[in-house]
Amino acid sequence: MAKRKKIAVLFSGKGSNFAHIVKTLHHEGFEVVVALTNNPNAEGIEIAKTASIPLEVIDPKAYESREAFDAVVVERLQQYSPELTVLAGFMRILTPVFTEQIKSINLHPSLLPRHKGLKAIEKSYEDEHSHGGVSIHYVSSELDGGEVILQKEVSKEGLSFEAYDEKVRSVEKDALVEAIRLTLK
Ligand code: GAR
Repeated sequence: MAKRKKIAVLFSGKGSNFAHIVKTLHHEGFEVVVALTNNPNAEGIEIAKTASIPLEVIDPKAYESREAFDAVVVERLQQYSPELTVLAGFMRILTPVFTEQIKSINLHPSLLPRHKGLKAIEKSYEDEHSHGGVSIHYVSSELDGGEVILQKEVSKEGLSFEAYDEKVRSVEKDALVEAIRLTLK
């Protein structure tokens, strides 16, 4: 059997993208070697437990600077030797301490460079374009600013905000899995 490709997944909340990675890639040519969250109350923690994936919870409150937090994240990740780290709803700005040591990709729910940062789905829905969408990009120390790997468009035509939001959240899951496969080809 071919060797499984090792990935790490970082999340902060619900973890539905993490769950999708587990469902589609884990033990299917890939191995989620560690899941890591900055939120001790993240719902996604249950996903790691159910799938018996090693979990690291690192609470930023325990660290006095972004750099100190990032250094611990880097150290923990390196213990599992992932080939790629996937930010799947990881809601933190990362410093060069992380970005210069960890090869990572991020999912963002807009067509970058439009609508960097928080509330990207809301902002996309309200802008003048007929389409919004999702982007997967390499992580750099510029927020939502690294090189784009792939994007998928989502038409807003005839959709309520709730329907658009649901469509984005469905499209982003397949886009993220596709980007992981592409990146580790
Ligand atoms: C996803 O919609 C993802 O695109 C977004 O957070 C959500 C996490 O959902 N990420 C960002 O906004 C990154 N800036 P999940 O916890 O259910 O996977």
